[in-house]
Amino acid sequence: MNVRFSKEGRGEALAVMVAEGGALSPSAAALDERLGGGLARAIAAARMTGKPGQIAELLAPPGLDASRLLAIGVGPADKLQALGVERWAGHAVKRLLTSGVQKLSLFADALGGVSAAEAAAKAAVGARLAAYRFDLYRTKLKPDQEPTLRDIQVVTDAAKAAQARFEVDNAVVDGVYFARDLVNEPPNVLHPESFAERLAALSELGVEVKILGETEMRKLGMNAMLGVGQGSVRESKLVVMSWKGAGKAAPVCLVGKGVTFDTGGISLKPGAGMDEMKGDMGGAAAVAGAMKALAGRNAKANVVGIVGLVENMPDGSAQRPGDIVATMSGQTIEVLNTDAEGRLVLADVVWYAQEKHKPAAVIDLATLTGAVIISLGHEHAGLFCNDDDLASSIAAAAAAEGEPVWRLPMNAAYDKMIDTPNADMKNISGKPAAGSIVGAQFIKRFIKDGQAWAHIDIAGVAWKPGPYEDPTSPCWATGYGVRLLSRLIADKYEN
Ligand code: BES
Ligand code: MN
Ligand code: ZN
Repeated sequence: MNVRFSKEGRGEALAVMVAEGGALSPSAAALDERLGGGLARAIAAARMTGKPGQIAELLAPPGLDASRLLAIGVGPADKLQALGVERWAGHAVKRLLTSGVQKLSLFADALGGVSAAEAAAKAAVGARLAAYRFDLYRTKLKPDQEPTLRDIQVVTDAAKAAQARFEVDNAVVDGVYFARDLVNEPPNVLHPESFAERLAALSELGVEVKILGETEMRKLGMNAMLGVGQGSVRESKLVVMSWKGAGKAAPVCLVGKGVTFDTGGISLKPGAGMDEMKGDMGGAAAVAGAMKALAGRNAKANVVGIVGLVENMPDGSAQRPGDIVATMSGQTIEVLNTDAEGRLVLADVVWYAQEKHKPAAVIDLATLTGAVIISLGHEHAGLFCNDDDLASSIAAAAAAEGEPVWRLPMNAAYDKMIDTPNADMKNISGKPAAGSIVGAQFIKRFIKDGQAWAHIDIAGVAWKPGPYEDPTSPCWATGYGVRLLSRLIADKYEN
């Protein structure tokens, strides 16, 4: 999709903003005047009040070249923020994507707290996010199912400034696309080996990519991670992606759970819905997408993304419940449930991150527990953090980017729940209580004293069931985490 910014709009379709209460944006008011009040009458006839996502559509408006004029609600004008503009543009794209229209002009006026340049850049962001499709395996799309929209023209008084902002934001959208593609890919196509190959391609953007196989991991003592993958015919991979944008500063390590398919292993999951476990690499996808975003926008920070890629399969050589494994840290784990595998992967990967990179912070993202969906649904990710300052920075970045988190508690009483007489710890508590917290406490056992660390449990947000109400997240895979991480790095680690 092509995106351009210019002062005038001549699309086949035009989209304007209407605030709650029916107030027209300046561009909408100007068009209404050319139509002799026709736009305001259409809005009234549609009983449109300006709520976000409401649309009044005029076809072949008399006196205009355009084939369609869309008045789209943005909610209360004084409360409008960047995300609201993204969704406004997203609604326009959602309506027109397969409509036959090829060229859309978005009249992105400054409104509320959003400047002209910001409104224009964010309209472009929202348009691109909404235009995302995963059609790779659909060989029989009917003509009316194929996207037709090709050109987005954002109409603005601040074209130059908007273009400059968009160049940065667009790199982040590319990262979101990358993460969505990875999560959407089927598990026969995306396995640890092919995932690692896709990450190797990030070197074209200046990211240094190192791939470790099982032999190297065995030498390092990463037996917890290797145990998860030992039932798979695919070789487990550890991929280290380094972006150096800030000289000698200690890096931030972003760590991702990359279980390319989670059957549960010998502790086999029930069959219904198991296909969703192709998304169990959503943490790794978010980290990969963030690395792509950081490189694409030339971030002035040192960031290392590390993902543990494994496939959790039942097999004659698979790990058994009751196995005891020695981790890279030296600590031992009694594996009482082979389906609590994400924490086994992370145990070794966060330790590797600390040993090799002496990071300023370790932030892991993982589709770790079904329990976080019980707690928070698909609206918030669960945040666990041993550093209040880091936690509030993450929460702020998350809210600003529309990828919200909710912090959950940790303490010694929860930690005790993974004690076992047979090893240093067990990988489940064996009780249903506080499942997400127990998972976080387990990872914390592999965080060194004084190391700033956050764990974000994204099991409820890496993908989501339809209907897809937010037009900027139009399919199963959300790409959650890419925006959050890119913004966190920008706000806390770049200056
Ligand atoms: N990948 C799952 C968690 C999950 C569940 C993610 C649903 C997304 C949607 C994880 O590996 C898992 O199986 N966790 C178990 C832990 C339990 C055995 C302690 C779970 O949540 O049931
Ligand atoms: Mn599992
Ligand atoms: Zn899993």
